[in-house]
Amino acid sequence: MSQDQLAAEVQGHHAPKYEELRAALADDINRRLRPHEALPSERDLMRAYGVSRMTVREALTRLVDDGLVYRVHGAGTFVADPATISKSLHLTSFSEDIRARDMTPGSRTVSAERVPVPEVVSTHLGLTTGQMVVHLERVRTADGVPMALEHVWLPAGLFVAIVDVDDLAAGSVYDRLVEAGAAPERAEQSIRAGVLPAREAALLDVAPGSPALVVSRTTYDLRGRAVERAESSYRADRYDFQLTVHRRRGT
Ligand code: GLP
Repeated sequence: MSQDQLAAEVQGHHAPKYEELRAALADDINRRLRPHEALPSERDLMRAYGVSRMTVREALTRLVDDGLVYRVHGAGTFVADPATISKSLHLTSFSEDIRARDMTPGSRTVSAERVPVPEVVSTHLGLTTGQMVVHLERVRTADGVPMALEHVWLPAGLFVAIVDVDDLAAGSVYDRLVEAGAAPERAEQSIRAGVLPAREAALLDVAPGSPALVVSRTTYDLRGRAVERAESSYRADRYDFQLTVHRRRGT
């Protein structure tokens, strides 16, 4: 929520106390606090603003909902980094995720080649030894800042019309799959924690050993064909995953 929207929301004279505190803190966050800086403790906020603990808690909860702060259990409340991308579990492409944050997606190609399918990839794509895949290794960027390092393997048979695979690497792979009549429809995905070795860290412009979220994805089209195997290492300081989880009925 922007500062103006917040101000507009609390302008009525009967604005609850927590709304006033929420607006004051939002103002502080926008004007002088840096991402990941700690907010004052609940006790200090109570004293500084002459409000109850309940009011402080309510205001902080709203700020969490606004995406302006985040809580770390036992440590306090911190200013959120606007550069963090919240990735939902909808099947989206990197380009879509970045555009949703009003940033410009980009790619730096590390390598783009046609190769015989590696054994670890073949089972995921349902290919047999010797069949060809397009392998792309790309640094994915948002407004020019490295966000993720991606390895993508695509059945080469989908792209026989493309002579130079560098063309494939230049833009959105999902757009090219749509053009090839293999629009991504569903994916099996796993997410695990990882650390970035020196080479990968350098490509992502972080210190060696920095944490990453490693997402492995096998993507299928409407006909159920496996059309992509990918391994993406997202900078852990730039990404989180949002999940909606439902309670199972009847248990
Ligand atoms: C995400 C997925 C990858 C996929 C990529 C496509 O990053 N983890 O598996 O290859 O999106 O993005 P784009 O269409 O921008 O190339």
